[in-house]
Order: sequence, then C-alpha cells, then structure tokens
Amino acid sequence: MKLVTAIIKPFKMDDVRTALSDIGVQGITVTEVKGFGRQRGHTELYRGAEYVVDFLPKLKLEIAVADEQVEPTLEAIIGAANTGKIGDGKIFVSSLEQVIRIRTGETGESAV
Ligand SMILES: Nc1ncnc2c1ncn2[C@@H]1O[C@H](COP(=O)(O)OP(=O)(O)OP(=O)(O)O)[C@@H](O)[C@H]1O
Ligand SMILES: [Mg+2]
Repeated sequence: MKLVTAIIKPFKMDDVRTALSDIGVQGITVTEVKGFGRQRGHTELYRGAEYVVDFLPKLKLEIAVADEQVEPTLEAIIGAANTGKIGDGKIFVSSLEQVIRIRTGETGESAV
C-alpha cells in the first residue's frame, strides 16, 4: 500500500475529486495548507491576483491506495490538477505499512 500526498491548487479540488472517484478511490482526506515551491519570493497568481509572498494557500490531499491503484491515482491527479502554470503542485508517494478500518476491524488492502 502507498500513501499518496498531493499538494494542489485549491480551485482544482472538484476536478481532482471527480477524477479520483472515477477510478474507484475509496477515500480522501483534505487539509488547507500553505506552502511555497521553487518561486519563493517571486509572484504567483492566486484567484487572479498576483502575490509576492512566501506562502500561498494550497490543498493537501492524502489518499491511501492499494499498490495496483498507485499509477491510476497519480495519473488522475496529474490529469485533473495540471494547468501548465507554476504552482500546480507536487505529489509525494510513501510506503504505507498498515491500514485499519475501525468499524469492521479489517486490515490491509481490504481496509483501504
Ligand atoms: N520540496 C517540497 N517539499 C514540500 N512541499 C513542497 C515541495 N515543493 C513544493 N511543495 C508544496 O507544493 C506546493 C506547490 O509547489 P509548486 O507547484 O510551486 O512546486 P515547484 O517545484 O515550484 O513547481 P513549479 O515550478 O511548477 O511551480 C508548494 O506551495 C508547497 O506547499
Ligand atoms: Mg512553484
């Protein structure tokens, strides 16, 4: 199993959620975050306004997936979140040791 952590532009959330639902992703955790990438100190557009600040609002998505779902998940996020402009975001993929579904006690991939 893998934990896919994606930082995206907030206005792309609906498109990304739809793309992930379409490939059968079972759950998503979303957190409002702030961050910066390589253009720190330079301008980036957010809702039509230019910001010259270190931190810009982003959404962090956390998605636990079975191994065979990793590639479709990455493709769905990239396809939906890509505008081709700076600040589109980044995806981190980490190993995930265990998942436990609290209600049923299921563990592993069947609990994802
Ligand atoms: N190395 C990193 N570690 C942790 N978070 C990062 C890292 N790089 C980017 N992020 C997060 O992703 C958000 C978007 O990054 P961004 O897309 O601007 O990356 P970039 O490398 O500058 O690419 P681009 O040149 O396309 O803008 C940042 O605001 C930050 O929250
Ligand atoms: Mg950037």
